Amino acid sequence: MPIKLNHVFHIYSQNTPFQFEALQDVSLVIEEKSFTAIIGHTGSGKSTLIQHLNALLLPTSGEVEVNGIVIRANQLPKNVKKIRQFAGVVFQFPEAQLFEERVLDDVMFGPLNFGKTKNEAREAAQLALQQVGLDSSFFERSPFELSGGERRRVAIAGILAMQPKVLILDEPTAGLDPEGASHMMSLFTKLHQQGMTIILVTHDMELVLQFANQVIVMEQGKVITQTSPHILFYGASRQDSFISPPLVQLIEKIRKKGKTITANQERSLANFIAGWKVS
Ligand SMILES: Nc1ncnc2c1ncn2[C@@H]1O[C@H](COP(=O)(O)OP(=O)(O)OP(=O)(O)O)[C@@H](O)[C@H]1O
Ligand SMILES: [Mg+2]
Repeated sequence: MPIKLNHVFHIYSQNTPFQFEALQDVSLVIEEKSFTAIIGHTGSGKSTLIQHLNALLLPTSGEVEVNGIVIRANQLPKNVKKIRQFAGVVFQFPEAQLFEERVLDDVMFGPLNFGKTKNEAREAAQLALQQVGLDSSFFERSPFELSGGERRRVAIAGILAMQPKVLILDEPTAGLDPEGASHMMSLFTKLHQQGMTIILVTHDMELVLQFANQVIVMEQGKVITQTSPHILFYGASRQDSFISPPLVQLIEKIRKKGKTITANQERSLANFIAGWKVS
């Protein structure tokens, strides 16, 4: 079932001098099993938007439909747990998500909260930590003594352990080294291939081009485009300098020299440039 937003507005600090309209009349559909990227300048409303997808934020007006459950203005749905298990959000700042004293407890928190036994939760947590590349030497450590990149991995594991159908990631590769970022993107690709819907907020246009099959462009609280990355980056109506990844510029230069590049060659080039081995 797709995720739908119907004329969603979000106003922060309504009726105060700090009132700010962060989402303005956003309507969109995110298809099941898609790999959807959300892009847009700083402050355009990306993080605000994704927090509506599992009722972490409620619309000021309009409706959000997730897994058949409708989230309405200013009203937390009764089955909010179901929504949160279905669609997991990994925050832009992982510090916001970690609070237990041990890594393993932190990752077990979600599954326990959703009714798993302690053994089941431990198993799910261990698997999720392994998926994000953290071995058992991390289990007893405090999340607050980890590096930024390690903390981000724990935060991602915390969501994966709940086995969501939709994984929503707010700039998940920020703060990771190239190898770590590559490992993460490979993991998300694998989960996508296994049938998970992936929603990725990013400023990295190369990631959009290489991994996403849908892209939503935001500007000042509005969705200005929803299309495929290929049409966005290569299409005739392409505008704006921020949507021109280096790879696209390079390919344009090569084409201008009269050389032909096939889609397969383009993909190989993308993998080569990124240094990633994504099958
Ligand atoms: N809690 C809040 N109270 C008031 N205004 C807020 C709050 N959170 C965000 N905003 C404002 O809403 C707008 C959208 O913020 P949001 O965090 O959704 O942007 P973003 O697209 O995720 O930006 P970035 O790329 O920098 O992460 C910004 O102008 C921001 O200042
Ligand atoms: Mg943000």
